[in-house]
Amino acid sequence: MNEMTVTREQREAKLEGMGCKRKRVEDIRFTQGKGNYVDDVKLPGMLHGDFVRSPYPHARIKSIDKDKALKVPGVLAVLTAEDLKGVNLAWMPTLAGDVQMVLADGKVLFQNQEVAFVVATDRYAADDGINAVEVEYEALPVLIDPFHSMDPDAPVLREDIKDKKDGAHGPRKHPNHIFEWTVGDKDLTDAAFRKAEVTIKELISYHRTHPSPLETCQCLCSFDKVKGELTIWGTFQAPHVIRTVVALISKIPEHKIHVISPDIGGGFGNKVGAYPGYICSAVASIVTGKPVKWVEDRIENLTSTSFARDYHMTAEIAATKEGKVTGLRVHVLADHGAFDACADPSKWPAGFFNIVTGSYDFPTAHLAVDGVYTNKAPGGVAYRCSFRVTEAAYCIERAMDILAQKLGMDPVELRLKNFIRPEQFPYHSALGWEYDSGDYHTAMKKMMETVDYAGLRREQAEKRDAFKRGETREIMGLGVSFFTEIVGAGPSKNCDILGIAMFDSCEIRLHPTGSGIARMGTKSQGQGHETTWAQIIATELGIPADDITVEEGNTDTAPYGLGTYGSRSTPVAGAAIAMAARKIRAKAQMIAAYMLEIHEDDLEWDIDGFRVKGLPEKFKSMKDICWAAYNAPPPGLEPGLEAVSYYDPPNMTYPFGAYLCVMDIDVDTGVYKVRRFYALDDCGTRINPMIIEGQVHGGLTEAFAIAMGQEIRYDNDGNVVTGSFMDFFMPTAVETPHWETDFTVTPSPHHPIGAKGVGESPNVGGVPAFSNAVNDAFSFLGSTHIQMPHDFWRNWQAAKRLGAIA
Ligand code: CDP
Repeated sequence: MNEMTVTREQREAKLEGMGCKRKRVEDIRFTQGKGNYVDDVKLPGMLHGDFVRSPYPHARIKSIDKDKALKVPGVLAVLTAEDLKGVNLAWMPTLAGDVQMVLADGKVLFQNQEVAFVVATDRYAADDGINAVEVEYEALPVLIDPFHSMDPDAPVLREDIKDKKDGAHGPRKHPNHIFEWTVGDKDLTDAAFRKAEVTIKELISYHRTHPSPLETCQCLCSFDKVKGELTIWGTFQAPHVIRTVVALISKIPEHKIHVISPDIGGGFGNKVGAYPGYICSAVASIVTGKPVKWVEDRIENLTSTSFARDYHMTAEIAATKEGKVTGLRVHVLADHGAFDACADPSKWPAGFFNIVTGSYDFPTAHLAVDGVYTNKAPGGVAYRCSFRVTEAAYCIERAMDILAQKLGMDPVELRLKNFIRPEQFPYHSALGWEYDSGDYHTAMKKMMETVDYAGLRREQAEKRDAFKRGETREIMGLGVSFFTEIVGAGPSKNCDILGIAMFDSCEIRLHPTGSGIARMGTKSQGQGHETTWAQIIATELGIPADDITVEEGNTDTAPYGLGTYGSRSTPVAGAAIAMAARKIRAKAQMIAAYMLEIHEDDLEWDIDGFRVKGLPEKFKSMKDICWAAYNAPPPGLEPGLEAVSYYDPPNMTYPFGAYLCVMDIDVDTGVYKVRRFYALDDCGTRINPMIIEGQVHGGLTEAFAIAMGQEIRYDNDGNVVTGSFMDFFMPTAVETPHWETDFTVTPSPHHPIGAKGVGESPNVGGVPAFSNAVNDAFSFLGSTHIQMPHDFWRNWQAAKRLGAIA
């Protein structure tokens, strides 16, 4: 086909830019088994490390005898806290301003805590070595229930800080207290409650769960004694942060540390923090002079790396009789386990939980969060969520349903009555956020029309009558959820990790023949960045997405960035990509003007090049411009066509969505069936609708898992009772419901391409939709709130408690 006869539509289609359902380029290697994960990296002479772990949740360590282990064939070293003390690494700083034992120092504080690190020639020998290490424990009283953490006679867990009156976030009230964080106007909120015509109050618990990515946490450390350089391959969601933290704690200069995140099999927040395995592997490599690999197994992953949630939220709403909300009061008891290793920006001890006013126009609100220690694994990561937003969304969405029930109103009607109106954006919430944009009424109404909400309510009423007449044993629930997320951490004025400001970056280099390479500070764990980042460049620079290579994860080549979690990639790095591309386009315009012998103001951008205004035949494509940039640039202009952008966003972005779950529950067995699930998401400008749909499917599946069964549960003695996939609910295609997806588009006004994040929205909105469906089903039997997870057993118990079963 002659280039001149190509239509505008054909030129646009060739780019596969924003809005195109471009197929995932990374899938070419993944579907052929050609991905390159940490465990695929094998170095000559590589050793394997593994942990001796504590069977006790709380115990003093009286002795560790390594002699027998060192005699096991293949075992080369056994590291304990005493060995790490020699290099000042027995404890490590956490992201939340606490410290955490790398290896048990004097005592253990949770079951499966790391006690010693055995290094051997292969994994089997390491395992034999583990069994030969003799540890003598003296059991101590166990503290599992966070509601008893601050009892006067509670066992003191953290003896290292027992006399410290202040923690990283202010005064501590008890040796097991970590922080109290308050936001909002208490007096005004208390006054609203005193004047309220109607109030509700409920303890809404969001149980402990775990991100459980397909690939567990792992690393390979190789220390080059000659060069004094350390190379670490790891499953890191934020490789640059890892490099900086390693430099700070190891004193190895940052330029001599190379961190490489190869392909990653899911992260969901689990791979943000630093774990003892990383430190022990690095130390072991320095000690042995050989590369050392550490690969967690599933039980280790579930029981010792970062958990998620474990928030116990007492929510109160004040309202008028007509259902207008007038105040919100929330207290959270946050169980952080044995060390405060929450992965939140430094200034936010409860993450962005203060988005708890949700999508509603609360005139006043007050929030208080108390963090406490228990004998459980540390963590508190944002499992597919932007720093405690899912807890907040669950809290407010349950509370709104409970208020609707008390008022005898439909939950949708109550929400429509209290939504922030389109003309109120940018909207300042009572707890301090500035929501960038939203059109909640349109989204909710689209949901209602698409699913025939009124018809479903009629059907439910008929079924309830039939149930009361004894004609059916099935009850029907409609779970409405309308969430507002806050993603894109973040403006560096209020977001940092250990003092590292939370910007992100992109570097684009175009080659003379019109293709290019782009590198970012983010790191995909399956979100499809190689596909979508090239689409932004295609639209901005008129170079086909197929002609752009996207590279992430190597700190030697990628510009410094804060990584991928909290749906921050599109809001922050996505913006950096557009800004870097625009710098290139500005230079390209100067070159095109020189080539066309015209002033650059007389040029206009047209899909894949510049044309002279009013003279459409006078055109220079980006391909021509790339060649000229290197080989015939305008006099005085340096050759080349590349740019870098470090983007510090002015605000976060606030995606939102309207979800509905239709569920039937058999009261005699507790067995539920998700008959229908509709998810409308608004993430502003949509880069790749197919990838968004995939993100929504994945997030909803995780939401389904969490709401309906997935839990890290401890018995009263501190044993983890759901530490493998035998007990920890991991839905397969068999259990997973069918998802219906939909969208509206309300661009972010401050983002260069108007995009908001989406990866976590379905988890944030999905959990309350499932839980509200279960609660709605049981509500006509007199129930106000049933705690998650809603597995068959708990549903059956609820039915029995409510008298549905004789
Ligand atoms: O930070 P993370 O990559 O987990 O989340 P995200 O920024 O929400 O992006 C997830 C995936 O969805 C990426 O491939 C994005 O490019 C894509 N996406 C999109 O196509 N359009 C949007 N408005 C937002 C995300």
